[in-house]
Amino acid sequence: MFSIRNLIPKTLLARFMLIIVVPSLIGQMLAVFLFYDRHWYNVSYYTSNIIANEIKWLLDNYHNVQTTDTNQHINEYLNLSYQFYQGIKLPKIRPKLNEELEIFKNILNLKLKKPVIVTLDHEKKIIVSIAFNNGLLKITFPTKLLLNPTTYIFVLWLIFLTILLLSVSLIFSRNQIKSILELATAADAFGREQRLDYKPSGAYEIRQAGLAFLKMKDRIDKQIANRTQMLAMISHDLRTPLTRMKLQLELMPSSEATIELQQDINTMTQMIATYLDFARGEGGENFQIIEVADWVVNFIQTKYPGRDITFDIKPQKHKVQIKPFAFARAISNLIDNAIKYSTKIKISISETKTSTLIEVEDNGIGIHGQEKELVFKPFYRSDHARSLEYSSNVGLGLAITKEIITGHYGTITLEDSKLLNGLLVRISLPIIKEIKDKTNEA
Ligand SMILES: Nc1ncnc2c1ncn2[C@@H]1O[C@H](COP(=O)(O)OP(=O)(O)OP(=O)(O)O)[C@@H](O)[C@H]1O
Ligand SMILES: [Mg+2]
Repeated sequence: MFSIRNLIPKTLLARFMLIIVVPSLIGQMLAVFLFYDRHWYNVSYYTSNIIANEIKWLLDNYHNVQTTDTNQHINEYLNLSYQFYQGIKLPKIRPKLNEELEIFKNILNLKLKKPVIVTLDHEKKIIVSIAFNNGLLKITFPTKLLLNPTTYIFVLWLIFLTILLLSVSLIFSRNQIKSILELATAADAFGREQRLDYKPSGAYEIRQAGLAFLKMKDRIDKQIANRTQMLAMISHDLRTPLTRMKLQLELMPSSEATIELQQDINTMTQMIATYLDFARGEGGENFQIIEVADWVVNFIQTKYPGRDITFDIKPQKHKVQIKPFAFARAISNLIDNAIKYSTKIKISISETKTSTLIEVEDNGIGIHGQEKELVFKPFYRSDHARSLEYSSNVGLGLAITKEIITGHYGTITLEDSKLLNGLLVRISLPIIKEIKDKTNEA
């Protein structure tokens, strides 16, 4: 259905421009129609009067001013040239005239009280033919005496000024909108738990909004930190009674019940280790610059010997920086998942202009649609993962991995594996350019 809303542009820039353009266009149109139309009419009226007067004087004083008697000779008088044709009658044609010439013709008719024909010739001259003394008097004068060329100049100026005004306001509006977009990008990055460098900029109101956003971010960060700290404390405190229970169980005579209890205690110990890992975060580890392909292959072959993991490694031109312990944990989390949820694993490492890509894909059931976002949330597990027996799954693996990769200024995304039909996890790490690399090594 038609609605005025559909006509209003969607982006802020377009709206800004509309707010500037519409009033200035209306203003200019009013200026043209009210002011310039009248002005133009007056100018045409007065110039027409002057020429009409000159023609009247010529006719009134024809015998006094005429310099040559000869028929058809060109004579000059004031602004006019004229020729007399004896015995020729005024033709009956009535050429179509524009508005200015029509005004001129009417004034001439009024002043002379004689039939006249006004025409425009090719050489930008106006010709007035008048029946006179049993003949025809042809009076010629330049168009510029009558037709007002400033109309076009005025319109050209208007168009030029409009374009100038629009360009200037476009530049200014874009700068204003840039700071709003920066705030939007920062809020979006925060929502996705990506690292953000945001500084409020732009107009006062936008800076206020930016500061409010930063305050809110601080508050949320603090809350998360508090929660994590509490988790760390609880996990830490639970470890002691668990160790005691384990010892006591080992002293008891072995039976089906004690074996099951032991399994439960092992699961709980593993879970608590994961909680502590999560709560500890990356800690104060330092970055090291490495050949990532060699490092990953080496790490996986050492940690998962005998596993059927295939590699597809493209030659690497650049190095990346990692915090080895944290990065190892991130990669293990992915491999552990792949081992838990599938049977075949492939690791590919390649390079783009700006980053190194590490892809881990498997032939499991994969992660569908919306869940691809959800699995990064702490403690999120799919129903399938929950149903695994004796599983120590707590749903922290991917959350920890994401935290670590973001801490490496990289990104982690989930896709469907085309090759193995399971999950494809892609880690992208920024490469260290040659120059920076050398200075760091030196
Ligand atoms: N390779 C995979 N294939 C299919 N589903 C996966 C895969 N990796 C993760 N998932 C799904 O994502 C959920 C979250 O994974 P995450 O690693 O965060 O937790 P978890 O493996 O369940 O537990 P944890 O890693 O803490 O022991 C899992 O419960 C599982 O449903
Ligand atoms: Mg996991």
